[in-house]
Amino acid sequence: MNKIKVMSVFGTRPEAIKMAPLVKKLENDERFESIVCVTAQHREMLDSVLEMFKIKPQYDLNIMAHGQTIIDISNKVLKGVDEVIKECKPNIVLVHGDTSTTLNGALAAFYNKIPVGHVEAGLRSYDIYSPFPEEANRKLTGAIATLHFAPTKTNEENLLSEGINKEKIYVTGNTVIDALLSVVDNNHVFEEMALNNIDFENKKIILLTTHRRENWGVPMKNIFSAIIELVNQNEDVEVVFPMHKNPSIRELAYTYFNEYKQRIHLIEPLEYVEFANLMAKVYLIMTDSGGIQEEAPALGKPVMVLRTETERPEAVESGTVKLAGIEKDRIVDVANKLINYKEAYKTMTQAANPYGDGMACSRIIEVIAEKVHILRGGI
Ligand code: UD1
Ligand code: UDP
Repeated sequence: MNKIKVMSVFGTRPEAIKMAPLVKKLENDERFESIVCVTAQHREMLDSVLEMFKIKPQYDLNIMAHGQTIIDISNKVLKGVDEVIKECKPNIVLVHGDTSTTLNGALAAFYNKIPVGHVEAGLRSYDIYSPFPEEANRKLTGAIATLHFAPTKTNEENLLSEGINKEKIYVTGNTVIDALLSVVDNNHVFEEMALNNIDFENKKIILLTTHRRENWGVPMKNIFSAIIELVNQNEDVEVVFPMHKNPSIRELAYTYFNEYKQRIHLIEPLEYVEFANLMAKVYLIMTDSGGIQEEAPALGKPVMVLRTETERPEAVESGTVKLAGIEKDRIVDVANKLINYKEAYKTMTQAANPYGDGMACSRIIEVIAEKVHILRGGI
């Protein structure tokens, strides 16, 4: 019996982190031939994950350019993935989540009549412009996918309400938990020297990340002003900000935080193992990231989401995540409560993990193996 040819397409840091444990499982299972095609929509931030998980892609489209637009990325991914599919003729193409790589990778497969498996399917904010362009990307990918791997029941319900056939939806948990559990270690010693000099015991360390397109401009300025106010108001607070590689975010950060080097630590993006263990050590996380909203609850870390909505309501409902918005005063108020009122803080630290048990990848590959007759027979 021929092996099932599974081609995984990804290109940004979060897709790589969440697809890596799946790729490793496929590589180690003799029922499958695993082919990895990275678009390299991100370069250094992707390579760091590939290196950590020891993944050597068979195809690397190497598309990243500074100042790239969504249209640039889309054109290059569509054309590049099309060529790879024509060369290696997979039985199924797996894409992840909601980036421009996701949608255009799926579209290339669809135009070649290759079934698409959508990992992390069914997340919805119900605002087509927020997050932008991710909400549209995941809806459009869902519309052309053959198999939908939904992390939670809520995600499944979203898909059902859009008329997706229940038999094509599988609730698997989120593969990010599989990844997280493989790297968090209480005895981790940081390689990043700046982190070894931080006093996690006696200071309240806030971990900040921000990158979302809809936060560029005024919202990001509000967030940075709020951080400065918090540092000024609370002597025991320090901030660690591993900056996304996007130059416009970095320039703004340097402008705002230049005078606060002792208390606001601007560092390079961290390797995943370093970042996961940093999350486990800090007092509070402030972020607009999607993935971090899923990981932090599993570590029992309070998260303030610097957005006006979230497509990940499960952790808000279970209490470890709070929507803090993008207005300076509200961000300062919410953070000050968590910094200064033990009870408010404590109620957010109960480890609750609505996103899975670390077995999502195993479930996904069993579905692919089970559905092989459909995949082999085409659509
Ligand atoms: C992309 C995704 C977003 C995802 C985010 C995760 C789209 C449209 N956006 O946004 O959904 O949440 O990744 O981080 O798909 N850069 C580097 N090196 C890197 C990575 C980025 O220099 O390793 C710089 C480049 O100048 C690049 C810029 O960052 O042009 C922006 O990258 P891009 O992929 O266009 O958008 P993100 O904001 O990263
Ligand atoms: N992350 C990392 N290093 C960092 C910052 C984040 O490895 O310096 C990880 C984080 O643990 C999560 C993922 O990157 O798994 C989130 O990526 P990002 O915030 O860029 O994208 P999003 O999840 O918002 O799409």
